[in-house]
Amino acid sequence: MDLVEPGEPAALVDALRGAFADRYGEPPTTVGRAPGRVNLIGEHTDYNAGLVLPVALPHATYAALRARGDELVRVASRQQDDVWEGLLTELGPGQVDGWAGYAAGVLWALREAGYPLPGVDLLVDSTVPVGAGLSSSAALECAVGAALLELAGVGLTDATRGELVAAAIRAETEVVGAPTGGMDQTVAVHGAAGAALLVDFDSGTETQVPLDLAGHTLLVTDTRVSHAHADGGYGARRADCETAVRELGVPSLRRADLTAVEGLGDERVRRRARHVVSEIQRVTDTVAALGEGRWDEVGSLFDASHRSMRDDFEISCPELDCAVAVAVQAGAVAARMTGGGFGGSSVAVVPDERVDAVMRAVDAAFVLEGFRAPAHLRAVPSAGAGVERG
Ligand code: GLA
Repeated sequence: MDLVEPGEPAALVDALRGAFADRYGEPPTTVGRAPGRVNLIGEHTDYNAGLVLPVALPHATYAALRARGDELVRVASRQQDDVWEGLLTELGPGQVDGWAGYAAGVLWALREAGYPLPGVDLLVDSTVPVGAGLSSSAALECAVGAALLELAGVGLTDATRGELVAAAIRAETEVVGAPTGGMDQTVAVHGAAGAALLVDFDSGTETQVPLDLAGHTLLVTDTRVSHAHADGGYGARRADCETAVRELGVPSLRRADLTAVEGLGDERVRRRARHVVSEIQRVTDTVAALGEGRWDEVGSLFDASHRSMRDDFEISCPELDCAVAVAVQAGAVAARMTGGGFGGSSVAVVPDERVDAVMRAVDAAFVLEGFRAPAHLRAVPSAGAGVERG
C-alpha cells in the first residue's frame, strides 16, 4: 500500500535551506509555501462562472529564494534534473519551457503587476504528487509567489493575496499556456485548516466552509494515469462550453437553466452544458448536506457528479471509474473523480475505521485489472500559502 505522506514542514524547510546553500553558495533569505488541493465537488465549473468546493492539502510545495545583484534568474527543483536559467526579460509567454514556466511565470506576472523584483536564485521542493490532478502546478506558482511578495517587502495580506492568485493564474494560462480556470490558485492561497473553500466565480467571493468530518477521512487515490491540461482535452471541453453559452445567449453557463440546455441542437454540446449546470447545483447541495452531516446525500451527490463527468463531460477513465466504484463497495460513503480529469485522482469520504480496507480493496482491484499500482493520501484540510519563518 502506497500512502503519500505530507512530510514534516520544519524538517523539509531545513533540508531545503541546506540544499539551497549547497547549490548556490549562500542560504536562502525567504521560503514560501503553498499547498496542493483536492476538489470535493464542482468540476469544470470555475471557467463557467460557477461554484467549486476544494480543500487545501497538507502536501505542499516549498520555494526557497535569494535576491541576486543582477538580472539573472535561476530556477531549480529537488524533484527535477533540469535547471532553467534566463534573464528577467526572458520570463514571459513563449519563453520558458517545461515545469520552470510555472515559477518563472509568477515572477514575470508580479513584475507585470508593478513589483520591481530583481533576478533571483530559486530552489523548490514538494510533497504534492505531480500529474495526479492535485494541483502541483498551482502549489508551485503560489509558493514562489508568496516568497517573491515577501522579498518585495509586502508579504501576504488581504490585498496581496488577490494579487498572488491573479499572478499565478497568469503564469499558468499565459506563460505555460494551460487554459485552466482559477480554482487551484484560489484555494492554494485562500485555503484554511479544517475547512473547505466555497468559491463563487460569478461574484468573485470565497467562503470558508468548516468541515466537521465526524469520524470520516477524505481519502485521495492517485490512479497514476497522468494528465496534462496544456493538451487538448481540457481546452476542447472549454470550447464546447463557450459554444453552449453562445447558442443559449447567456453571459455564462451559471445563468443557464437545464430546460434551456436540453433544447441545445448539438448532442455533444448539450451533454457538456448539462454537466456544468447540474454540477453547479450539486455544489450548493453538497455544502448543505455536509453542514448537516447527511452523508447518504453527500454520497448520492458525489455519485451523480462522477456519472456526469464520465458520461456527459467524458473526462473519466477506467482507472478512475474502478477506484470510485471499489471505494464505495469497500465502505466509502461517497466517492468521485476529482480535478480536470483524463487521469489523476479520485476523492472518497470514508469512515475512519474503513480507510485501510478501502485502500486495500482499491489496490487489489487495480492488480486484477492490470492497472499501475495507485497511491493514496489523506486529505487533511490544511492552510493556504504562507512564508516559513526561522
Ligand atoms: C483543473 C483546472 C481548474 C479546474 C479543474 C476542473 O484543475 O486547473 O481550473 O477547471 O481542472 O474542475
